[in-house]
Amino acid sequence: MTEKPWDGRFDEKTDRRVEAFTASHQFDRRLYADDIEGSIAHCRMLAKSGIITGDEAATLAKGLGQIKTEIESGQFTFEDRLEDIHMHIEARLGEIVGDVAKKLHTARSRNDQVALDVRLFLRRTTQETIALLDTLRAVLVDLAEQHQDVVLPGYTHLQRAQPVLLAHHLLAYYEMLTRDRQRFGEVRERIDVMPLGAAALAGTTYPIDRHFTAKQLDFPRVSTNSMDTVADRDFILEYLAAASICMVHLSRLSEELVLWASAEFGFVELPDAFATGSSIMPQKKNPDVPELVRGKTGRVFGDLMAMLTLMKSLPLSYNRDMQEDKPLLFSSVDTLHGCLDIYAEMLPRLKFQRHTMAKAANQGFLNATDLADYLVTKGMPFRQAHGCAGQIVGFALANQKEIHELSLIELQQFSDLIEPDIFDQLTTEQMIARRSSYGGTSQDNVRAAIKAARQKPAS
Ligand code: ARG
Repeated sequence: MTEKPWDGRFDEKTDRRVEAFTASHQFDRRLYADDIEGSIAHCRMLAKSGIITGDEAATLAKGLGQIKTEIESGQFTFEDRLEDIHMHIEARLGEIVGDVAKKLHTARSRNDQVALDVRLFLRRTTQETIALLDTLRAVLVDLAEQHQDVVLPGYTHLQRAQPVLLAHHLLAYYEMLTRDRQRFGEVRERIDVMPLGAAALAGTTYPIDRHFTAKQLDFPRVSTNSMDTVADRDFILEYLAAASICMVHLSRLSEELVLWASAEFGFVELPDAFATGSSIMPQKKNPDVPELVRGKTGRVFGDLMAMLTLMKSLPLSYNRDMQEDKPLLFSSVDTLHGCLDIYAEMLPRLKFQRHTMAKAANQGFLNATDLADYLVTKGMPFRQAHGCAGQIVGFALANQKEIHELSLIELQQFSDLIEPDIFDQLTTEQMIARRSSYGGTSQDNVRAAIKAARQKPAS
């Protein structure tokens, strides 16, 4: 092989600095298996369509198989001169099988080849993402099941609002991850389109059979417009967008764990194996894992933003700018998978401090709404009941007591509708049990939600 495939047209050799600047093998070598799989399918299609012979296709496929082994055993050498993974494999194929290697690239361009490689990679990767999400979803359901009797304050505005079951709180994250799972499932469908045969941008003059290639690679659909095919990176954008939303969820969970692990909350103790100490302050146990998940979220958002910016001004069809898509995609995949994985390991080992949580749920007038609701059941209009309960809160505050610590006589100063049955209604347990509207935190609802989650692990 001459130094470069385009040497025929050029008088000068490529400057070494340009070779180093334009090379992508440092990162796109990660696509080697997909590139080889795609090339084998392509040469079989060429043979089937009578463009090369069956023997030639077999020789090419065998050589490609050998290259895969070489790369996997670390014998393969990469050099800037050969730019990307596609040219490395083609060049090595020439060394192994001789001149017939020059036929592999018939009716194909690196533009449709790279689109195929990334789609193959991302289709497989998205399945892994979904599997990791399912593992973490199952962890959350297990945790919910084990903590069905643990109560904590639910918050709005980070102010104690109403008591909820810890299981209900955990299942809120289960819901978020379930939507993430659905999103990745939808992204996967749009990844699953076979681009090869668009060639450089306009299709090819050879009598190729794109549907045959698709069938071999298990693609249910073939892309339609050849220009869109080589210009399209929506499927990467969509993966990054779904990854960003998923990271928002993980980051919110992280923020809660950081807060909950503080002495101020004291709701959770992190496992020693998943925390770090301070090099100077002996008393400290730091929540580094949740902090880093929260921190890494920025990286995934950044990858999405960079990818959007990369694409926004590109004229049709392929542009070399698009080579920059891969580091962004790989970085987000690794970050997301790393975070999902570590949380699946860490969450089962959290020690929730049920007494601290219960105490917090019992303090700070979390039963004020229930007091108002009580008055409504006794015939007072809600707005008036809200005002009356507010006055009682004010009175309790002034006397440094909780509502349920006031005597019946004290309560009755504010309304003669209040009777001894009020005290039962103001216990945390009753407050939770009575929130039995569909989706509410009642024990029965939560038990049913756990059961439902167990019955349909995937949706
Ligand atoms: N390394 C290139 C990329 O990732 C492959 C396609 C190059 N095509 C080209 N015409 N230079 O985008």
